[in-house]
Amino acid sequence: MSSPATPRRIAIAIDGPASSGKGTMARLLAQELGYSYVDTGALYRVVGLRALGAGLDLGDGESVGALARALRLHFGWSERGLRVFEGEDDLSDAIRNERVGRAASDVAVLPAVRAALLGLQRALGAAGGVVVDGRDIGTVVLPDAALKVYLDADPAERARRRATELRAKGQDADEQAIFDELVARDAQDAGRAHAPLCQAADAVRVDSTGRTPAAVLAELVALARARM
Ligand code: CDP
Repeated sequence: MSSPATPRRIAIAIDGPASSGKGTMARLLAQELGYSYVDTGALYRVVGLRALGAGLDLGDGESVGALARALRLHFGWSERGLRVFEGEDDLSDAIRNERVGRAASDVAVLPAVRAALLGLQRALGAAGGVVVDGRDIGTVVLPDAALKVYLDADPAERARRRATELRAKGQDADEQAIFDELVARDAQDAGRAHAPLCQAADAVRVDSTGRTPAAVLAELVALARARM
């Protein structure tokens, strides 16, 4: 039994649209609480990357589903933070571009792909002491999470952030093109039939527009501590 002196190690689900700051906030929150962080978008991105590499039709549930089931996905840590692997390959950098983001969103529509990734995501969340970010964590993956956050931000600000992020990595960034891409991807993620992006009924909505990461973090830490 937990006593008030030994806080429960809870599962925290953070969902929201593209570039709403989920990754940054989930990482900082996990760090602050001494929890692990799981970036579920990275899994969909790896499926997208591998499907592109194999020349598959991204709309073909059968072949992309079979590919997703065959992938040996796992996370690891290095001095560079959370890394995602497929087999021996560290794909953490290769998945961070808009082409792969779009491919991830395309394959994420497929029920066979979602089913293939569900077990791993649930297993990673099961023990508690974890912050998991994605699109359907509070609704499908961890419906019993003690804290669910829906993190949103104004689309223009999200596009600005993504452009800054890409430029920092030395990539080209056309802010208007990124804005159009984010809006299209959100529409596809929210409009799909299976596990669409949406706020769980019991999620707390947090808007990060015009706020510093530190300010949003303080709000999230307070929400988490109240549930421990
Ligand atoms: O980093 P960003 O917010 O742009 O995206 P991401 O979290 O890396 O996710 C990439 C894509 O994977 C999303 O656009 C979704 O289509 C899909 N995804 C999903 O369907 N379910 C999740 N739990 C996580 C990601």
